[in-house]
Amino acid sequence: MKNKIVSYIVPKLTDYSAAALEKAVGECIAACKSESEEVRNDAELKSFRDRWMARKNGILTQINDLWLKGAAKDAKREAGIRVNALKARITEMVDAAHVAETDADSLSAERVDISLPGIRRPIGAEHPVIKTRNEIVGVFERLGYSVAEGPVVETDYYNFEALNFPPNHPARDTQDTLFIGAQQSKPQRDRLLLRTHTSPVQIRTMEKMRPPIRIVIPGTVHRNDPPDASHSPMFHQIEGLAVDTNITFGDLKGTLDHAMKALFGSSVKTHFRPSFFPFTEPSAELYVTCFICGGSGKRSSDPCRPCKQTGWIEVLGCGMVDPNVFEFVKDNGYDPKKVSGFAFGMGVDRLALLKYGVDDIQLFFQGDVRFLQQFG
Ligand code: PHE
Repeated sequence: MKNKIVSYIVPKLTDYSAAALEKAVGECIAACKSESEEVRNDAELKSFRDRWMARKNGILTQINDLWLKGAAKDAKREAGIRVNALKARITEMVDAAHVAETDADSLSAERVDISLPGIRRPIGAEHPVIKTRNEIVGVFERLGYSVAEGPVVETDYYNFEALNFPPNHPARDTQDTLFIGAQQSKPQRDRLLLRTHTSPVQIRTMEKMRPPIRIVIPGTVHRNDPPDASHSPMFHQIEGLAVDTNITFGDLKGTLDHAMKALFGSSVKTHFRPSFFPFTEPSAELYVTCFICGGSGKRSSDPCRPCKQTGWIEVLGCGMVDPNVFEFVKDNGYDPKKVSGFAFGMGVDRLALLKYGVDDIQLFFQGDVRFLQQFG
């Protein structure tokens, strides 16, 4: 009712003819209707209701007084019927009245002031470990490898047994495994653990895809290592697996030599030393010339710490897939007499530490924005 002069005043009736009553009733209804449409908020709704319905001097009461009491005896009956009908109608309209919203109101509520300065949101940056992971995966993708993934909570079968770690074999001890509790009632191969390496995805992928395959497998792994500057109970690995007919150790060396040059620069040299993993035979560790000191073991006159003055840095474990591993997936086309392959696995966090010259792995996982911003 804002900005509007309340216009309806109950008229005194002198003429009680049907036509006059009709007119008076019509005007009253029209007034009530237009006032009900003007209600803009709860306070206005209340005063609208009071104005029409209040027992003491509300419009209906006034009509009762003015129209009925002033009627001549013979007109009373007819007037009474009309006033009652009118009261019912007005009561209905008052009950139905509600706060209306005009187009103008809703438009002004939704108005956007495009001249106001916006909210500046800080832009995040790729985490150094993820950045390193993506770079490594990218090198292999360009060689035609595809990406495979697998579960972090793994069974004993995939993490150990199918990788040629027989039950109770001492090689299992090298993996510092975190086991999921309350699994004793299950057969050993079904018991759950946090995977200690990404190698179980070798088996999972060979179960699904027939040879030839070339895959890289990025993922998180867990080991029961107390956190310190070079250990974290959770870290990242990238596994690689290539299987085809006639894959040789020469293919392994050529592929990894190329990958290291792509990652650390064309001047790095690679060097393989014999090693042992149950799922590869022969097995090796790959070293690259230290990209901090260039292989000299010294940084100006100081000893080079990352390579412990040897000039070489160990970057991964690798080898030719052991025929015993193929036996577990033989039915899917991996007959060890017909196919051969190589596999490798590297620690992404360690490579990120070396690449960025960070001296504490914990910094990668503490989420300190001041540290992470330096890689933005
Ligand atoms: N899974 C091994 C580890 O975590 C690394 C590896 C992968 C070695 C593939 C050989 C072949 O230590």
